[in-house]
Amino acid sequence: RAISSVEVIEVGPRDGLQNEKVSVPTDVKVALCRSLVDAGVRRIETTSYVSPKWVPQMSDNVNVMDALKDIPSGVEVSVLTPNLKGLENAKLSGRVDAVSVFGAASESFSQKNINCSIKESISRFSAVAETALGDGLKVRGYVSCIAACPYEGPIDPKNVVKVWKLLKDLGCYEVSLGDTIGVATPNQISKVIEALVAEGADVNELAGHYHDTCGTALTNVLRSLDLGLSKFDSSAAGLGGCPYAAGASGNLATEDLVYLCDGLGIDTGIDFGKVVCASEATLDVIGIGNRSKSAQAWHAK
Ligand code: HMG
Ligand code: MG
Repeated sequence: RAISSVEVIEVGPRDGLQNEKVSVPTDVKVALCRSLVDAGVRRIETTSYVSPKWVPQMSDNVNVMDALKDIPSGVEVSVLTPNLKGLENAKLSGRVDAVSVFGAASESFSQKNINCSIKESISRFSAVAETALGDGLKVRGYVSCIAACPYEGPIDPKNVVKVWKLLKDLGCYEVSLGDTIGVATPNQISKVIEALVAEGADVNELAGHYHDTCGTALTNVLRSLDLGLSKFDSSAAGLGGCPYAAGASGNLATEDLVYLCDGLGIDTGIDFGKVVCASEATLDVIGIGNRSKSAQAWHAK
């Protein structure tokens, strides 16, 4: 099936900013989210309701969401909620459409990231999903370390399938496949997606979440498109990384994803020039340049 449109899930304000060393003021985060929506972003992960001791960069979650109450209703706002405490806090905002639970295909990563085993994480997520679904919220799932773990090395696709199935059974409408440390190459991505499809996964309910540490994220998107995926997580300016995965660089840059899709005649609804400009104030505060190659080329013109 030829893909004619792609859903971009902008994760920069969360996945991007959770790992930048400079703490970005709340009003700058809010302005970033608004500019991204102005650029055409229709799905955005704005923050996470995690422990402020674990990820201080997201400790202003309540204030960020208070300021974003008026984001247009056509935009799907999602946030991370690892447990019921996170869910209760997220619900206070009144503007969250979807909550994301985040598991891993690696036991060690689960321990380092959320301080519990995979089994225990699923039992926590089950409570989150049941309550959230009962409250009319959508529940999104993540599987981290789909190809490799920073502590365990290569990961067998079978372990990804196991966690995907558990998340699906909890009622997740979509499961995002995280190449957390950005080392996967297209054949590894194929193996994971093919293993999932062989077990009954619907490609329309999978998203690709590829970090770009080794510069392969865009090639992994291309391979995923060939295999029928049409939803991808990306981060404006390629911001970020993962606090529990040393050396992991940012997500695939939204600009690069949009540039690729524009060139392939695939609609994203996002204006390339506007999305390049959306992160400027944030980058100034952090004191870095835009990490997207296509954005750099656009600036150089
Ligand atoms: P814990 O320390 O085991 O939690 O952390 P606990 O239940 O024992 O509670 C300890 C303290 O934390 C208590 O406070 C709780 O109230 C508080 P105290 O009594 O000590 O003052 N607490 C919370 N506070 C705020 N919000 C909450 C919450 N829960 C407990 N929701 C926990 C367990 C899961 C909370 C912790 O490990 C955590 O917050 N981890 C999150 C780490 C994180 O955010 N990682 C990055 C996101 S995942 C990622 O980036 C990967 C992804 O992008 C996909 C990919 O790339 O692969 C999604
Ligand atoms: Mg990530």
